[in-house]
Amino acid sequence: MFERFFRRSPSEFQLQVNPTGAPFTAAAKDSLLLSALQNGIAFPHNCRVGGCGECKCRLVSGKVKELTDKTYLLSAEELKQNYILACQSQPRSDVVIEVTLREQAAAHPVIETRGRITACRPLTHDILHVSIEAAGPLPHTAGQYVDIALPEAAGGTGKEVRSYSFARAPASASPTALDFYIRKVPGGAFTDWLFAQDRTGETLNLIGPHGSFALRADVGPIVCIAGGSGFAPIQAVLEQAIRDQQATRPLVIVMGARTQADVYAQEHIDQLRRSWSGRFHFEAILSAEPEGSNWQGKRGLVNEHLPALLGTRFAEHSAYLCGPPAMIDACVSALRSGGVPATRIHFDKFLDRSNAPASR
Ligand SMILES: Cc1cc2nc3c(=O)[nH]c(=O)nc-3n(C[C@H](O)[C@H](O)[C@H](O)COP(=O)(O)OP(=O)(O)OC[C@H]3O[C@@H](n4cnc5c(N)ncnc54)[C@H](O)[C@@H]3O)c2cc1C
Ligand code: FES
Repeated sequence: MFERFFRRSPSEFQLQVNPTGAPFTAAAKDSLLLSALQNGIAFPHNCRVGGCGECKCRLVSGKVKELTDKTYLLSAEELKQNYILACQSQPRSDVVIEVTLREQAAAHPVIETRGRITACRPLTHDILHVSIEAAGPLPHTAGQYVDIALPEAAGGTGKEVRSYSFARAPASASPTALDFYIRKVPGGAFTDWLFAQDRTGETLNLIGPHGSFALRADVGPIVCIAGGSGFAPIQAVLEQAIRDQQATRPLVIVMGARTQADVYAQEHIDQLRRSWSGRFHFEAILSAEPEGSNWQGKRGLVNEHLPALLGTRFAEHSAYLCGPPAMIDACVSALRSGGVPATRIHFDKFLDRSNAPASR
């Protein structure tokens, strides 16, 4: 007992993540998710703020402190089986948890590297195309994302990160060139820093890849729905589809934006159109375009237009969605009502700290 007392301070415990192997030290002040990621485990996660449920795992033994309410994300059965959210749980004793690792997440090991910003180009008034040259290759699957450590100058303490989806499919010819589309979030620590001045030349810490949003090898028509900077992983996945000989499938791309000025990446969309051999349809849908403007396209919310856009083959589509949580929730619900099975609906919600549930 005394040996145990002197061996470790109560600020550290042992964490074992089944089925990945040996226990490791986890700080009491860090979430189980952070400790697992820092120990190279490709632990499934997305938002890190208790808003998506991706990091759910079963508490096999030990005590944790839970930081937010998990009950609205987990089913009654999961709660009964002692499921917790790893991103919202800190160890209070030695802990063993059990998690289901995803195929894509396991495909590439999580690595940490440095990256230098080589260009910041405005795509719209609040979205930047940020190019980064990584110090070494960061192998990933199109659709995944990387965590960028919040720089000290933006208030970062070394452990806080923000997630950004790769905007291009990985290219073997330039494995260190990475591209991101980053939207300014008013009052956001990282994006306030990024948009304050041209950050070309700055160095950032990159940790990844993460995520299971990726092209599936199925058949039938595809619908891609992007809101805000959510076109980044959609573009990466479609570039991958072209390489994987899936470009013969009928494709509808929908970009939800507020006004004409918020529609971007037109040249990339044209490039995709040229390379896509199957039926290709792109539609921008504007929710706040001034009445009486010269906009000839569709207005309103993306979910309202899905029945007309997807037509008689609605239920056969495989759907890929990225962007703001509210848009994704509304579109997933419209897709499900139209008969698209949940197994064919894939999405990444761009959750941020404003989406965190109330603290306990
Ligand atoms: C899987 C994934 C992929 C993503 N990919 C992209 C991408 O490709 N492009 C992109 O633009 N974004 C992406 N995001 C979002 C991105 O990770 C950041 O969340 C976003 O850029 C905001 O970061 P920030 O530091 O500027 O804002 P934050 O500092 O995180 O703040 C965000 C908002 O929350 C408010 N806030 C801060 N603290 C609190 C609090 N305690 N309670 C309530 N509100 C609070 C802030 O005022 C601000 O309005 C992705 C997110 C996820 C989860
Ligand atoms: S990563 Fe834990 S709830 Fe989203």
